[in-house]
Amino acid sequence: MNWKQLSTLVAVGLSVPWQAHAMIRFGCSQLVTERFDPLVTPGQVSPHLHQIIGGNAFNLTMHIDNDLPELSTCTTCRFKEDFSNYWTAVLYFKHPNGTYLRVPQAANHYTGGPKGGMTIYYIQPPTNEKVTAFPKGFRMITGNPMLRSRKAVDPTSAEAWALSFRCWETEGFFDPSNSSPPGAGAYDTVALPNKFCPGGIRANIFFPSCWDGKNLDTPNHSSHVAFHEGKVNPNIGIILMDGTCPASHPVRLPLLFYETYWDTRPFKDMWPTDGSQPLVLSQGDPTGYGQHGDYVFGWEGDSLQRAMDNCYDGFGWPEACPELTILSDEEINKCVQASQVDETVEGEFIPALPGCNPIQNGPGQATMVPNCTAISTTGVAPAATPNSIPSRIQRSVITPAV
Ligand SMILES: *[C@@H]1O[C@H](CO)[C@@H](O)[C@H](O)[C@H]1NC(C)=O
Ligand SMILES: *[C@@H]1O[C@H](CO)[C@@H](O)[C@H](O)[C@H]1NC(C)=O
Ligand SMILES: *[C@@H]1O[C@H](CO)[C@@H](O)[C@H](O)[C@H]1NC(C)=O
Ligand SMILES: *[C@@H]1O[C@H](CO)[C@@H](O)[C@H](O)[C@H]1NC(C)=O
Repeated sequence: MNWKQLSTLVAVGLSVPWQAHAMIRFGCSQLVTERFDPLVTPGQVSPHLHQIIGGNAFNLTMHIDNDLPELSTCTTCRFKEDFSNYWTAVLYFKHPNGTYLRVPQAANHYTGGPKGGMTIYYIQPPTNEKVTAFPKGFRMITGNPMLRSRKAVDPTSAEAWALSFRCWETEGFFDPSNSSPPGAGAYDTVALPNKFCPGGIRANIFFPSCWDGKNLDTPNHSSHVAFHEGKVNPNIGIILMDGTCPASHPVRLPLLFYETYWDTRPFKDMWPTDGSQPLVLSQGDPTGYGQHGDYVFGWEGDSLQRAMDNCYDGFGWPEACPELTILSDEEINKCVQASQVDETVEGEFIPALPGCNPIQNGPGQATMVPNCTAISTTGVAPAATPNSIPSRIQRSVITPAV
């Protein structure tokens, strides 16, 4: 068994009698980590750093008509048919001496080898309501990097728990938190955990799963989608919520879920002794309320729809979905892009977060630095982003340069 392999599935499987509904769950390794965000700042180097996974047609600008399966030559995701891109903010540890080191991302469930990455889920609701796969050109963002306090939403709604962090209490396989589903469980917080988590932290990002049926995108990349309605039961979380879509957004999409696993264990001996919280998201967010995820759909043809119509394995194992073609660890790991922004973002303690991202504690929304002089040109391609994880042994402790 791999490190934390059963975290989510044990939670889901044990909490309620299992209902057969479609689900695929698969690992993707890192494509590149760089200051790009083709949705928010197309054509410009982005204000903050992201880790990107998926097809290698990812670029500074991604026109809505781009045919990603056609333009890509490889993908870092487990299924050969998936050239989508998925990205999230990178996490840093702020050393008591004021410098920052990227927190390594360990392979989560089947992340396909050494290069961190994420685990991606596409889930049909437990009601077995038919889901409509995202159309070509579809993209969306969930969360807002500028937030520094909890959004004023109904605390029992899916939206209130869509973005959370799981603090692992132990390094062991049978962590007590495994009995709790992601989002609204007893071990999850909307803010970054305010203590050292001995087994690391998992970021849980659920996207809205209801679509207006018309727009592939909208100016803020959010208003064409909405969360499903209903109340989150803390025992079953969002995955198994049976709420329906609002009339304004009637089309049920697969529930898209990202898991990112941050291995905070190497920082144990450097943890501040004054009780302060040293972790900070790449946009200068030490609260975690600015957690966000971006998605650009890029599945080939009707492959995602076929998977959602036919792949009912309760655990979502890739092997159990014959509709799709599995790539080997080697194939997904050799798909990489060189960063096009010539700056050091990881592998050593850096004096400031990449871009212009001073730490802003809130509770008001963060503001952009007006006269940012950070590098804003592309084209210089230093060596490919170094791996932050040296081996496939997922429990190995990575010792940063101290
Ligand atoms: C990214 O866009 C640039 C500029 O249009 C282009 O030269 C480059 O080939 C693109 N890279 C990929 C991987 O598509
Ligand atoms: C996006 O824009 C819509 C309409 O202007 C607004 O109602 C909504 O709150 C915005 N959503 C986000 C996440 O900014
Ligand atoms: C930023 O630029 C504006 C004008 O563009 C100037 O008035 C202001 O003093 C500058 N601020 C800093 C901190 O350099
Ligand atoms: C901060 O601490 C780290 C870890 O000990 C060390 O590598 C780095 O050189 C230090 N930086 C400064 C500016 O003291």
